[in-house]
Amino acid sequence: MKNNIILAGGKIVDPVTGYFGPANVFISDGKIEKVEKRKKDKITGRNVIKLDGKIVCPGFIDMHVHLREPGDEDKETIISGSEAAAAGGFTSIACMPNTRPPLDNAGAIEYVNNRALMAPVKVYPVGALTVGQKGETLTEMMEMSACGAVAFSDDGSGVQNNDLMRRALEYSRTCGTPIISHCEYSDLAASGVMHEGFISSKLGMKGISAVAEELMVMREIMLASLTQARVHIAHVSTAGSVDLIRKAKRAKVPVTAEATPHHFTLTDDLIQSFDTNLKVNPPLRTKKDIDAVIKGLADGAIDCIASDHAPHSIEDKELEFDYAPFGLIGLETTLGMVITRLINKKIISWVEAVERMSTAPARILDIPGGTLNEGEPADITVIDPDLEWTVNPDNFKSLSRNTPFAGWKLKGKAVMTIVDANIVYSTI
Ligand code: DOR
Repeated sequence: MKNNIILAGGKIVDPVTGYFGPANVFISDGKIEKVEKRKKDKITGRNVIKLDGKIVCPGFIDMHVHLREPGDEDKETIISGSEAAAAGGFTSIACMPNTRPPLDNAGAIEYVNNRALMAPVKVYPVGALTVGQKGETLTEMMEMSACGAVAFSDDGSGVQNNDLMRRALEYSRTCGTPIISHCEYSDLAASGVMHEGFISSKLGMKGISAVAEELMVMREIMLASLTQARVHIAHVSTAGSVDLIRKAKRAKVPVTAEATPHHFTLTDDLIQSFDTNLKVNPPLRTKKDIDAVIKGLADGAIDCIASDHAPHSIEDKELEFDYAPFGLIGLETTLGMVITRLINKKIISWVEAVERMSTAPARILDIPGGTLNEGEPADITVIDPDLEWTVNPDNFKSLSRNTPFAGWKLKGKAVMTIVDANIVYSTI
């Protein structure tokens, strides 16, 4: 653990200035003291960390993570999830409220804050939108916001009642926090287990139509326009949703959106393997949807990349496809997927990737980070862009193993994660 350090020899990515090139980063008193574009003379000294060939970025922020504490600590705890985050290059995470019991009151938010004091990364709780996440009565959003809830959400399911969502948006505007919406009308989703389409018909499985998501995306856009409150669309999965969000942004509606690595890489035809690690909500869609999500990430219709890290036990995932829970883990694979599938394929640049994984989530949640500006907290991710590795769930810090990416060969990995100038993860 060091407090005054110099990160020398790497290339920095600064989405705020658009700079991607050599620079040394000076850190003192837990903050970024200065970033100096490199001159010829090399810096030496005891507190110099040599990062030749590495990329140095503002710390990544995953704004969509499920920790299972309280309630299911065998799947993930606040500490284990934070360790997984640090290993994946994240310096901050926002945790969703669908724990048991849900984070639906100020005491629960304080509980997370207290547990997170020992966590290696910054943990920001998201408060539930409705009591018990039952979709009936709004929670005390003001109180939770005062205790540090950075957003509100009933993630795991959509808010079915339109008027309730309107009121929630009005309150959230007063709190100054966004609402994160899991867009899905449950009557249209009709207890489906995968995307409704050719493959679901072939397999005889119940499908979740694209319109179950898109209709609610449309509602959120209309309500955000009406209330001028900020709505953030979680895990966008369909081409139609991307189109709606792009058009809403052009019309200056205060809407933002995120996409996950699985929704920009995996298609529903993989479900013919019946691998329950592919069962996720919203479901994996078609090639056309993937292409639209990728285009949205490239042109900025989708603001950020989040993992939707959703840990489940092996016993739960070993059930038949119909009965297994939705969800897959992603904290330790997201960065590798972004580098391998987006940056190295020249779909987005390094500067754009860091904007989507750091600057945008910081802006949406209004939390520190996302920049290497002088005086900002020294939350930094160091990446080896050339490191080739194979995803092996046995090496995960997460307590769960439910990844569909096991065995995938990826290029690029976080090799050092620094939070408030403390090195919380390093393989250097
Ligand atoms: O697949 C999912 N799993 N989607 C969600 O929205 C919730 C998550 C979970 O909590 O397991």
